[in-house]
Amino acid sequence: MVGRRIRACQTVLDAMNREHMDKQLVITDVGPRDGLQNQPGILSVEQRLQLIAAIAAAGVSSIEVGSFVSPKAVPAMAGTDAVLASLPAGDLHYTVLIPNMRGYELARAAGARSVTMVLYASESMARKNVNMSIAEADEATAAILASAAADGIEVIATISVAFACPFDGATDPGVVRTSAARFLELGADRVVVADTIGAANPQQVRSLTAELVAEHGPGQLGCHFHDTRAMGLANVYAAVESGIRRFDSSIGGLGGCPFAPGASGNVATEDVVMMLEQMGFDTGIDLDALLRASDLAEELTGTAPGGRAKAWLKPWLAKRAG
Ligand code: COA
Ligand code: ZN
Repeated sequence: MVGRRIRACQTVLDAMNREHMDKQLVITDVGPRDGLQNQPGILSVEQRLQLIAAIAAAGVSSIEVGSFVSPKAVPAMAGTDAVLASLPAGDLHYTVLIPNMRGYELARAAGARSVTMVLYASESMARKNVNMSIAEADEATAAILASAAADGIEVIATISVAFACPFDGATDPGVVRTSAARFLELGADRVVVADTIGAANPQQVRSLTAELVAEHGPGQLGCHFHDTRAMGLANVYAAVESGIRRFDSSIGGLGGCPFAPGASGNVATEDVVMMLEQMGFDTGIDLDALLRASDLAEELTGTAPGGRAKAWLKPWLAKRAG
């Protein structure tokens, strides 16, 4: 009798625990990389660190802090080694974007514990972005995964142009599924599907992410949306409904790829956090402090990028505080 009751209590606790886990989300702020790579002005290492610190102060636990790419191709990301060297120690998750093995070696030498390697769902984007074919980028990723396993470094594989390419048009979702399966099998810690140019619609997102979650479970999947056509939040919603629990977003909606015409900023972190928290999810992020980080992003870059939450939240938060 007592045993049965204990088992019943355990079942209820397990269900509550599952529900709690299901409401937990991880946001990776990619503003210090995706955001800053595409600005007219170039920030100093100190300014980049200031921005990262403000984002971290809001409770964002995962931040993409820069990239190890050719400084000729993306001058704003030169000095990412100095950024990494000056990050405060602690248990925040920092990752850096890499385009190839050279980037991996530079990231490792700079002490990176996590790298985000870019894969391609279209030939033209691979060529324009990194002067490789899809197969060459795949091969480089397989080699990076082998080295990273030996080095104890996390590898996130981001599949760019996962919905549409500015040069080749619509992406075949089968290509993305095959690539995701291959690289998870090869040991990628996570696969992120990226709508690099902000061309996806929620129906496409729902269908692809539901298939991926059914195949792999949500734990090793993430999504990365740009807000070019104001569908960023709708796409986040579609993905969250499919079970995705990790999202990239960018403080103040900064962002865009210099090599993908028409790509504008990422969906703004403050918009994503506001929506998901209102829906009952737990991001662990303090919106008030996030808005301060967004103000800083605006001040440092001199641009007033996307994001709708700030204009609405600021007076509301001020009233609540007063
Ligand atoms: N970081 C820094 N330098 C790199 C590098 C890296 N990851 N990979 C290559 N290089 C250097 C090479 O050492 C070489 O230097 P050198 O001219 O002094 O000899 C030079 O870049 C050219 O190398 P090569 O292998 O011929 O590359 P490429 O000219 O075909 O350019 C990339 C390829 C990947 C280096 C370049 O296109 C790039 O960095 N793109 C970045 C794309 C990006 O960040 N996009 C936005 C995010 S998705
Ligand atoms: Zn992006």
